[in-house]
Amino acid sequence: MLHDQSATKCTQVYSSNSQSFQNGRDRNIVIRNDFNTEIGMGGTNCDKIRFEIKLLVETDEDIVDMIKSQKDPLFNPADDPREFRTLHDTRDALMPTALPSRGMSRMGSPGFFKMRYVKVKVLGVGTYGVVSKAIDIDTGVIMAVKSNQRRGLSWSPQEYQKIRREAETMQKIAHEHIIDMINYQGWEDSCIEFFMGLKDGSLADIINANEFDDKKGSRVLEHMLAALDCLAWNKILHRDVKPQNILYTRTPESNYDFQLADFGECKMTSSARSCKGTLAYMAPEVLDNSGVLLTPKVDT
Ligand SMILES: Nc1ncnc2c1ncn2[C@@H]1O[C@H](COP(=O)(O)OP(=O)(O)O)[C@@H](O)[C@H]1O
Ligand SMILES: [Mg+2]
Repeated sequence: MLHDQSATKCTQVYSSNSQSFQNGRDRNIVIRNDFNTEIGMGGTNCDKIRFEIKLLVETDEDIVDMIKSQKDPLFNPADDPREFRTLHDTRDALMPTALPSRGMSRMGSPGFFKMRYVKVKVLGVGTYGVVSKAIDIDTGVIMAVKSNQRRGLSWSPQEYQKIRREAETMQKIAHEHIIDMINYQGWEDSCIEFFMGLKDGSLADIINANEFDDKKGSRVLEHMLAALDCLAWNKILHRDVKPQNILYTRTPESNYDFQLADFGECKMTSSARSCKGTLAYMAPEVLDNSGVLLTPKVDT
Protein backbone atom coordinates (compact mmCIF):
# COMPACT_ATOMS: atom_id res chain seq x y z
CA MET A 1 0.00 0.00 0.00
CA LEU A 2 1.05 3.55 -0.65
CA HIS A 3 -0.08 5.97 2.05
CA ASP A 4 0.15 9.64 1.25
CA GLN A 5 0.54 11.22 4.65
CA SER A 6 1.87 14.53 3.48
CA ALA A 7 -0.01 17.58 4.80
CA THR A 8 -0.17 19.01 1.29
CA LYS A 9 -1.29 15.76 -0.34
CA CYS A 10 1.60 16.01 -2.73
CA THR A 11 1.98 12.35 -3.69
CA GLN A 12 0.41 10.90 -6.83
CA VAL A 13 0.55 7.74 -8.90
CA TYR A 14 1.18 7.87 -12.62
CA SER A 15 1.40 5.41 -15.53
CA SER A 16 -1.24 4.81 -18.15
CA ASN A 17 -3.43 2.31 -16.33
CA SER A 18 -3.09 3.71 -12.82
CA GLN A 19 -5.93 3.80 -10.32
CA SER A 20 -5.22 7.04 -8.62
CA PHE A 21 -6.25 8.44 -5.23
CA GLN A 22 -9.84 9.65 -5.25
CA ASN A 23 -10.90 12.98 -3.85
CA GLY A 24 -12.55 12.66 -0.47
CA ARG A 25 -11.11 9.23 0.23
CA ASP A 26 -8.20 8.39 2.50
CA ARG A 27 -5.04 8.70 0.44
CA ASN A 28 -4.18 5.01 0.53
CA ILE A 29 -3.78 2.96 -2.60
CA VAL A 30 -2.66 -0.54 -3.48
CA ILE A 31 0.50 -0.87 -5.57
CA ARG A 32 0.58 -3.81 -7.98
CA ASN A 33 3.08 -4.99 -10.49
CA ASP A 34 0.95 -3.81 -13.40
CA PHE A 35 -0.29 -0.45 -12.23
CA ASN A 36 0.43 2.35 -9.79
CA THR A 37 4.12 1.59 -10.03
CA GLU A 38 5.07 5.12 -11.05
CA ILE A 39 5.01 7.51 -8.11
CA GLY A 40 5.55 11.23 -7.97
CA MET A 41 6.05 13.46 -4.95
CA GLY A 42 6.30 17.15 -4.17
CA GLY A 43 5.69 20.38 -5.99
CA THR A 44 2.37 21.68 -7.26
CA ASN A 45 2.02 18.80 -9.73
CA CYS A 46 3.16 16.06 -7.35
CA ASP A 47 6.05 15.29 -9.64
CA LYS A 48 9.10 17.04 -8.27
CA ILE A 49 10.56 13.60 -7.65
CA ARG A 50 9.26 10.86 -9.86
CA PHE A 51 10.29 7.22 -9.58
CA GLU A 52 9.20 3.77 -10.56
CA ILE A 53 8.75 0.85 -8.20
CA LYS A 54 9.81 -2.64 -9.28
CA LEU A 55 8.12 -5.31 -7.20
CA LEU A 56 10.27 -8.27 -6.25
CA VAL A 57 7.26 -10.61 -6.25
CA GLU A 58 5.92 -12.01 -9.49
CA THR A 59 2.18 -12.43 -9.08
CA ASP A 60 -0.71 -11.07 -7.06
CA GLU A 61 -0.88 -14.43 -5.36
CA ASP A 62 2.68 -13.93 -4.11
CA ILE A 63 1.73 -10.53 -2.73
CA VAL A 64 -1.30 -11.99 -0.96
CA ASP A 65 0.81 -14.84 0.43
CA MET A 66 3.47 -12.40 1.58
CA ILE A 67 0.91 -10.28 3.37
CA LYS A 68 -0.69 -13.34 4.95
CA SER A 69 2.54 -14.88 6.13
CA GLN A 70 3.86 -11.46 7.19
CA LYS A 71 7.16 -12.14 5.52
CA ASP A 72 7.24 -8.49 4.63
CA PRO A 73 10.85 -7.40 5.20
CA LEU A 74 9.63 -3.95 6.21
CA PHE A 75 7.72 -5.42 9.10
CA ASN A 76 10.11 -7.52 11.06
CA PRO A 77 9.51 -6.96 14.79
CA ALA A 78 13.15 -7.76 15.44
CA ASP A 79 14.15 -4.68 13.49
CA ASP A 80 15.03 -1.38 15.01
CA PRO A 81 11.64 0.16 15.89
CA ARG A 82 12.78 3.46 14.44
CA GLU A 83 12.94 1.78 11.05
CA PHE A 84 9.34 0.61 11.21
CA ARG A 85 7.14 1.91 8.51
CA THR A 86 4.08 3.87 9.59
CA LEU A 87 1.17 1.48 9.70
CA HIS A 88 -1.80 2.93 11.58
CA ASP A 89 -4.75 0.60 11.17
CA THR A 90 -3.80 -0.83 7.80
CA ARG A 91 -2.27 -3.96 9.24
CA ASP A 92 -5.73 -5.13 10.21
CA ALA A 93 -7.04 -4.17 6.82
CA LEU A 94 -4.34 -6.17 5.10
CA MET A 95 -5.22 -9.32 6.95
CA PRO A 96 -7.68 -11.58 5.17
CA THR A 97 -11.21 -11.50 6.49
CA ALA A 98 -11.62 -14.42 8.82
CA LEU A 99 -14.98 -14.74 10.51
CA PRO A 100 -17.63 -12.01 10.36
CA SER A 101 -16.26 -8.53 10.11
CA ARG A 102 -19.32 -6.41 10.56
CA GLY A 103 -17.21 -3.41 11.52
CA MET A 104 -15.87 -3.23 7.99
CA SER A 105 -19.28 -2.97 6.45
CA ARG A 106 -20.00 0.21 4.56
CA MET A 107 -23.57 -0.79 3.86
CA GLY A 108 -26.34 1.70 3.95
CA SER A 109 -24.23 4.84 3.91
CA PRO A 110 -25.76 6.89 1.11
CA GLY A 111 -23.28 8.28 -1.35
CA PHE A 112 -20.53 5.91 -0.29
CA PHE A 113 -17.72 5.38 -2.76
CA LYS A 114 -17.80 2.64 -5.33
CA MET A 115 -15.62 -0.28 -4.32
CA ARG A 116 -12.50 -0.38 -6.49
CA TYR A 117 -10.77 -3.72 -6.63
CA VAL A 118 -8.55 -6.03 -8.64
CA LYS A 119 -9.35 -9.69 -9.16
CA VAL A 120 -6.60 -12.10 -8.20
CA LYS A 121 -8.03 -15.51 -9.04
CA VAL A 122 -11.30 -17.32 -9.76
CA LEU A 123 -12.68 -19.26 -6.79
CA GLY A 124 -15.89 -20.67 -8.20
CA VAL A 125 -18.32 -20.31 -11.06
CA GLY A 126 -21.92 -19.80 -10.09
CA THR A 127 -25.32 -19.58 -11.73
CA TYR A 128 -25.05 -15.92 -12.75
CA GLY A 129 -21.35 -15.37 -12.68
CA VAL A 130 -18.06 -15.88 -11.05
CA VAL A 131 -16.73 -15.70 -7.50
CA SER A 132 -13.17 -14.36 -7.40
CA LYS A 133 -10.53 -13.54 -4.85
CA ALA A 134 -9.94 -9.79 -5.00
CA ILE A 135 -8.01 -6.96 -3.34
CA ASP A 136 -9.74 -3.70 -2.44
CA ILE A 137 -7.52 -1.08 -4.09
CA ASP A 138 -8.29 1.55 -1.47
CA THR A 139 -7.84 -0.50 1.69
CA GLY A 140 -5.79 -3.54 0.71
CA VAL A 141 -8.48 -5.83 2.18
CA ILE A 142 -8.45 -9.26 0.59
CA MET A 143 -12.01 -10.45 -0.05
CA ALA A 144 -14.26 -12.53 -2.29
CA VAL A 145 -16.34 -10.83 -4.98
CA LYS A 146 -19.36 -12.51 -6.53
CA SER A 147 -20.11 -10.90 -9.90
CA ASN A 148 -23.68 -11.52 -11.01
CA GLN A 149 -23.59 -10.82 -14.73
CA ARG A 150 -26.81 -9.98 -16.56
CA ARG A 151 -27.26 -12.09 -19.70
CA GLY A 152 -29.88 -10.09 -21.57
CA LEU A 153 -30.35 -6.38 -22.11
CA SER A 154 -32.09 -5.98 -18.77
CA TRP A 155 -32.64 -8.01 -15.63
CA SER A 156 -35.99 -9.77 -15.52
CA PRO A 157 -37.94 -8.70 -12.41
CA GLN A 158 -37.61 -12.26 -11.04
CA GLU A 159 -33.81 -12.38 -11.51
CA TYR A 160 -33.38 -8.91 -10.05
CA GLN A 161 -35.53 -9.70 -7.05
CA LYS A 162 -33.71 -12.98 -6.42
CA ILE A 163 -30.30 -11.25 -6.41
CA ARG A 164 -31.63 -8.43 -4.25
CA ARG A 165 -33.04 -10.97 -1.78
CA GLU A 166 -29.70 -12.81 -1.68
CA ALA A 167 -27.78 -9.58 -0.95
CA GLU A 168 -30.23 -8.20 1.60
CA THR A 169 -30.49 -11.47 3.51
CA MET A 170 -26.71 -11.79 3.78
CA GLN A 171 -26.46 -8.17 4.82
CA LYS A 172 -29.17 -8.53 7.45
CA ILE A 173 -27.78 -11.61 9.17
CA ALA A 174 -24.68 -11.31 11.35
CA HIS A 175 -23.69 -14.70 12.71
CA GLU A 176 -20.31 -16.33 13.15
CA HIS A 177 -21.39 -19.31 11.06
CA ILE A 178 -23.02 -17.38 8.25
CA ILE A 179 -21.01 -15.74 5.47
CA ASP A 180 -20.23 -12.09 6.10
CA MET A 181 -21.27 -9.55 3.48
CA ILE A 182 -18.93 -6.57 3.27
CA ASN A 183 -20.73 -4.54 0.63
CA TYR A 184 -22.64 -4.72 -2.64
CA GLN A 185 -23.03 -2.48 -5.67
CA GLY A 186 -24.08 -2.28 -9.31
CA TRP A 187 -27.90 -2.31 -9.00
CA GLU A 188 -28.16 -0.02 -12.02
CA ASP A 189 -25.55 -1.92 -14.06
CA SER A 190 -25.31 -5.17 -16.00
CA CYS A 191 -23.12 -6.65 -13.26
CA ILE A 192 -24.22 -6.69 -9.63
CA GLU A 193 -21.32 -7.33 -7.27
CA PHE A 194 -21.31 -8.75 -3.74
CA PHE A 195 -18.19 -8.37 -1.61
CA MET A 196 -17.77 -11.03 1.07
CA GLY A 197 -15.16 -12.22 3.51
CA LEU A 198 -12.71 -14.55 1.81
CA LYS A 199 -12.86 -18.18 2.93
CA ASP A 200 -10.30 -20.93 2.40
CA GLY A 201 -12.59 -23.33 0.51
CA SER A 202 -15.82 -25.29 0.68
CA LEU A 203 -16.86 -28.48 2.44
CA ALA A 204 -17.11 -30.01 -1.05
CA ASP A 205 -13.36 -29.32 -1.51
CA ILE A 206 -12.61 -31.12 1.76
CA ILE A 207 -14.74 -34.11 0.71
CA ASN A 208 -13.21 -34.22 -2.77
CA ALA A 209 -9.71 -34.16 -1.30
CA ASN A 210 -10.69 -37.13 0.89
CA GLU A 211 -9.99 -35.07 3.99
CA PHE A 212 -13.39 -35.33 5.62
CA ASP A 213 -13.27 -37.06 9.01
CA ASP A 214 -15.33 -37.39 12.22
CA LYS A 215 -13.74 -34.34 13.81
CA LYS A 216 -14.63 -32.10 10.87
CA GLY A 217 -18.01 -33.82 10.68
CA SER A 218 -18.98 -32.94 14.23
CA ARG A 219 -17.70 -29.38 13.79
CA VAL A 220 -19.61 -28.79 10.57
CA LEU A 221 -22.76 -30.21 12.16
CA GLU A 222 -22.44 -28.00 15.21
CA HIS A 223 -21.70 -24.89 13.13
CA MET A 224 -24.45 -25.49 10.57
CA LEU A 225 -27.07 -26.19 13.24
CA ALA A 226 -26.13 -22.88 14.87
CA ALA A 227 -26.41 -21.12 11.49
CA LEU A 228 -29.78 -22.73 10.70
CA ASP A 229 -31.08 -21.93 14.16
CA CYS A 230 -30.27 -18.27 13.49
CA LEU A 231 -32.02 -18.40 10.12
CA ALA A 232 -35.10 -20.14 11.56
CA TRP A 233 -35.27 -17.51 14.30
CA ASN A 234 -35.25 -14.86 11.56
CA LYS A 235 -37.91 -16.79 9.58
CA ILE A 236 -35.58 -17.39 6.66
CA LEU A 237 -35.29 -20.59 4.66
CA HIS A 238 -31.94 -21.17 2.93
CA ARG A 239 -33.21 -23.97 0.65
CA ASP A 240 -29.80 -24.90 -0.76
CA VAL A 241 -27.74 -26.29 2.11
CA LYS A 242 -25.09 -28.56 0.52
CA PRO A 243 -21.31 -29.06 0.74
CA GLN A 244 -20.59 -26.54 -2.07
CA ASN A 245 -22.38 -23.83 -0.09
CA ILE A 246 -20.68 -24.50 3.23
CA LEU A 247 -17.38 -22.63 3.32
CA TYR A 248 -14.53 -23.02 5.78
CA THR A 249 -11.75 -20.96 7.27
CA ARG A 250 -8.78 -22.67 8.90
CA THR A 251 -8.18 -21.31 12.38
CA PRO A 252 -4.71 -20.72 13.85
CA GLU A 253 -5.26 -23.82 16.05
CA SER A 254 -5.59 -25.93 12.86
CA ASN A 255 -9.29 -26.20 13.35
CA TYR A 256 -12.01 -25.51 10.84
CA ASP A 257 -14.68 -22.84 11.16
CA PHE A 258 -17.60 -23.41 8.84
CA GLN A 259 -19.97 -20.80 7.46
CA LEU A 260 -23.16 -21.19 5.47
CA ALA A 261 -23.01 -19.28 2.16
CA ASP A 262 -24.94 -18.80 -1.09
CA PHE A 263 -28.31 -17.31 -0.22
CA GLY A 264 -29.40 -17.42 -3.88
CA GLU A 265 -32.44 -19.61 -3.11
CA CYS A 266 -33.40 -18.14 0.24
CA LYS A 267 -36.96 -17.05 1.03
CA MET A 268 -38.99 -15.86 4.00
CA THR A 269 -41.04 -18.62 5.62
CA SER A 270 -44.21 -16.61 5.01
CA SER A 271 -43.96 -17.06 1.23
CA ALA A 272 -41.84 -20.16 0.56
CA ARG A 273 -43.91 -22.68 -1.35
CA SER A 274 -42.09 -23.50 -4.59
CA CYS A 275 -39.72 -26.36 -5.35
CA LYS A 276 -36.23 -24.76 -5.16
CA GLY A 277 -32.76 -26.09 -4.37
CA THR A 278 -30.58 -28.95 -5.53
CA LEU A 279 -32.34 -32.23 -6.20
CA ALA A 280 -29.92 -34.49 -4.32
CA TYR A 281 -30.25 -32.43 -1.13
CA MET A 282 -33.95 -31.53 -1.27
CA ALA A 283 -36.33 -32.33 1.56
CA PRO A 284 -39.26 -34.56 0.41
CA GLU A 285 -41.83 -31.84 1.08
CA VAL A 286 -39.91 -29.44 -1.23
CA LEU A 287 -39.72 -32.05 -3.97
CA ASP A 288 -43.47 -32.71 -3.60
CA ASN A 289 -44.08 -29.19 -4.86
CA SER A 290 -47.59 -29.36 -3.45
CA GLY A 291 -47.76 -25.65 -2.78
CA VAL A 292 -47.87 -25.95 1.01
CA LEU A 293 -45.98 -23.39 3.05
CA LEU A 294 -42.48 -24.73 3.82
CA THR A 295 -40.90 -24.58 7.28
CA PRO A 296 -37.25 -24.30 8.46
CA LYS A 297 -37.25 -28.10 8.69
CA VAL A 298 -36.48 -28.22 4.94
CA ASP A 299 -32.95 -26.98 5.71
CA THR A 300 -32.02 -29.58 8.34
N1 LIG B 1 -16.61 -15.92 0.25
C1 LIG B 1 -16.05 -16.91 -0.43
N2 LIG B 1 -14.78 -17.30 -0.18
C2 LIG B 1 -14.21 -18.31 -0.88
N3 LIG B 1 -14.84 -19.02 -1.84
C3 LIG B 1 -16.11 -18.68 -2.14
C4 LIG B 1 -16.79 -17.62 -1.46
N4 LIG B 1 -18.05 -17.52 -1.95
C5 LIG B 1 -18.15 -18.47 -2.90
N5 LIG B 1 -17.00 -19.17 -3.03
C6 LIG B 1 -16.75 -20.30 -3.98
O1 LIG B 1 -17.53 -20.07 -5.15
C7 LIG B 1 -18.51 -21.11 -5.31
C8 LIG B 1 -19.79 -20.52 -5.88
O2 LIG B 1 -20.32 -19.53 -4.98
P1 LIG B 1 -21.88 -19.49 -4.63
O3 LIG B 1 -22.15 -18.28 -3.81
O4 LIG B 1 -22.27 -20.80 -4.03
O5 LIG B 1 -22.51 -19.30 -6.08
P2 LIG B 1 -23.76 -20.04 -6.77
O6 LIG B 1 -24.97 -19.30 -6.32
O7 LIG B 1 -23.57 -19.87 -8.21
O8 LIG B 1 -23.73 -21.48 -6.36
C9 LIG B 1 -18.64 -21.76 -3.93
O9 LIG B 1 -19.05 -23.11 -4.02
C10 LIG B 1 -17.23 -21.62 -3.38
O10 LIG B 1 -16.41 -22.66 -3.89
MG1 LIG C 1 -23.58 -22.31 -4.54
